[in-house]
Amino acid sequence: MNILGLETSCDETAVALLQVQGDNFVLPINLVSSQINLHQKYGGVVPEVAARAHVETIFPLLQESGLAADGSGVDVIAVTGGPGLLPALRIGLETAKALAFAWHKPLVAVNHLEGHIYSPWLSAIKPSFPALALIVSGGHTEIVLVKDHLNYQIVGATRDDAAGEAFDKVAKLLGLGYPGGPAIAQQAQLGDPASIPFPRPMSDSGDFDFSFSGLKTAVAVYLKQHPEAPVADVAASFQQAAVDILVQKTLAAVKKFQPQALILGGGVSANLHLRKTLGESLTARHPAITYHVPNLEFTGDNAAMIAAAGYFHAQAKRFVNPVTLIASPNLRLK
Ligand code: KG4
Ligand code: ZN
Repeated sequence: MNILGLETSCDETAVALLQVQGDNFVLPINLVSSQINLHQKYGGVVPEVAARAHVETIFPLLQESGLAADGSGVDVIAVTGGPGLLPALRIGLETAKALAFAWHKPLVAVNHLEGHIYSPWLSAIKPSFPALALIVSGGHTEIVLVKDHLNYQIVGATRDDAAGEAFDKVAKLLGLGYPGGPAIAQQAQLGDPASIPFPRPMSDSGDFDFSFSGLKTAVAVYLKQHPEAPVADVAASFQQAAVDILVQKTLAAVKKFQPQALILGGGVSANLHLRKTLGESLTARHPAITYHVPNLEFTGDNAAMIAAAGYFHAQAKRFVNPVTLIASPNLRLK
């Protein structure tokens, strides 16, 4: 089955063609056009600016992909239906609907978080079920029990800021620019992670929820009191606190739900310290549970992961009607 994936939920316009034969997932087309340069001067993503850039980019990307103009070679179209920025989501959605009409192809709508969960299916070794997924991105931080394909139970979530949002806000406080995650990670390599004892919010809450806004505030207060603090030490200590809390809560959930596999996904899963610490902690305590992280190219937003999740929608015959499909900016996993 050949799945055309489209993703425009935030600040990446992405087009991919995924070919699935049994367990073999091949990606002849995988294009991502990032808008980071456009949003940098605002210090964050501006929805209308994002939408305008998606409009200008999506058809040139389809053209560049080399797909046949009549849609031959495509069996199913998969598009991100939400969550995300409404004006941005609409561009991918309307494009997908138009192509589904013109080409007479079936359409599936994928939850963006589901895409991040399915990003490890783009690697050779696939997770088994039940799986537990830690999804950490700019907009979301969730621990999800994946009982089987397309069967989700959210067991923990952030009560305020997402993990990536905390990286972005702390980077802003440190004058490191946008997006903050990669900049913090780079600075952290040069600093001492034990130099500043930032709090680990909600570590004793007894549930699997997170809070990152208190951690960000703690960094802001510290910087006010210590304006000369070395940026690298602040970055390393903040990153250590964020990773500690993510790993602690995830391993507590692993202990409770005893999954076959642990998945790490979302933009923050590009963080090498998080990838390594979570993997090492899992192996030390639960050596039989397999650990799955996407290749670095599939950590941030991309259309390949949407096509991968879309494949399982198509297998389950969960097709949607292009006439009635609308964007769902607050779509939840269920
Ligand atoms: O999944 P994603 O590309 O977009 C959303 O769905 O939100 O995630 C973007 C987030 C941003 O907050 C960015 O700062 C963060 O991922 N990020 C990182 C790293 N690379 C990207 N955070 C920590 N360390 C990184 N290396
Ligand atoms: Zn994302």
